[in-house]
Amino acid sequence: MTTQRLLWTFLFLLISAVQECEPVCVDAVPDTEAVVGNPMKLTCVSCIKREINAETRVNWYYRTNRTAEPQLIFIYDGKPQGVEGPWMGRLLWNGSKDLQDLSISITNVTLNDKGRYECVVHRQFSFNLHTASISKNATFIDLVVREKVCLFNKQAHHC
Ligand SMILES: *[C@@H]1O[C@H](CO)[C@@H](O)[C@H](O)[C@H]1NC(C)=O
Ligand SMILES: *[C@@H]1O[C@H](CO)[C@@H](O)[C@H](O)[C@H]1NC(C)=O
Ligand SMILES: *[C@@H]1O[C@H](CO)[C@@H](O)[C@H](O)[C@H]1NC(C)=O
Ligand SMILES: *[C@@H]1O[C@H](CO)[C@@H](O)[C@H](O)[C@H]1NC(C)=O
Repeated sequence: MTTQRLLWTFLFLLISAVQECEPVCVDAVPDTEAVVGNPMKLTCVSCIKREINAETRVNWYYRTNRTAEPQLIFIYDGKPQGVEGPWMGRLLWNGSKDLQDLSISITNVTLNDKGRYECVVHRQFSFNLHTASISKNATFIDLVVREKVCLFNKQAHHC
C-alpha cells in the first residue's frame, strides 16, 4: 500500500472509532442528584472501538455555574491523579480498564459540591507512523445536592 492509501485507511479507522460503539459500551445517562454525606458517582462514558490503539487522557472540570471559569479537578493520564486544591483527596477514579468508562466519584458529598462537572476526553490514535488526536467534551453533569432526610420521622429533618 502507498503511504496515501495507508493514511486513508487510518482516517477511516479513526472515523469509525469515533462513530461506532462496541455493544458492551453503552452510553449511560449520568445521575445528577447527590445526597450530603454520601458518595456520588459522576458518570462519563466515551465509547471507542477496541481494536483501535489509542492513548487516552481525561480532564475533569468543575464550575459553580455555567458562566464561571472551569476549574481542573481531576486528571487521568495513564493513572488517576488528583489536582492540588480543595478537591484533592475528595475524588476517586471510578473508570474502567478499557477507558470507555471515565467516571469519577466524590467520596463524601457536601452542599458546596453542586454545580457543573465536565468530562473532557483526549485520545491520540496511532497507526504505523501516523498519529491523530481528538478532544471532546464527553459529558457534563449539572449536579444537584440534597440534604439527607430521615424518612421514618414524620417531620422530615436533617440527620
Ligand atoms: C463526610 O463528611 C462529614 C462532614 O465533614 C463527616 O462528618 C463524615 O464523617 C464524612 N463521612 C465519611 C463517610 O467520610
Ligand atoms: C457564577 O459563578 C461565579 C464564580 O463563582 C460568580 O462570580 C457569578 O456571580 C456566578 N453567576 C451566577 C449567575 O450565579
Ligand atoms: C464506583 O462505581 C461502582 C459501579 O457503578 C459503584 O458500585 C461504586 O459505588 C462506585 N464507587 C464509588 C466510590 O462511588
Ligand atoms: C466544552 O465545550 C464548549 C464548547 O464546545 C467550550 O466552550 C467549553 O469550554 C468546553 N469545556 C471545557 C471544560 O473544556
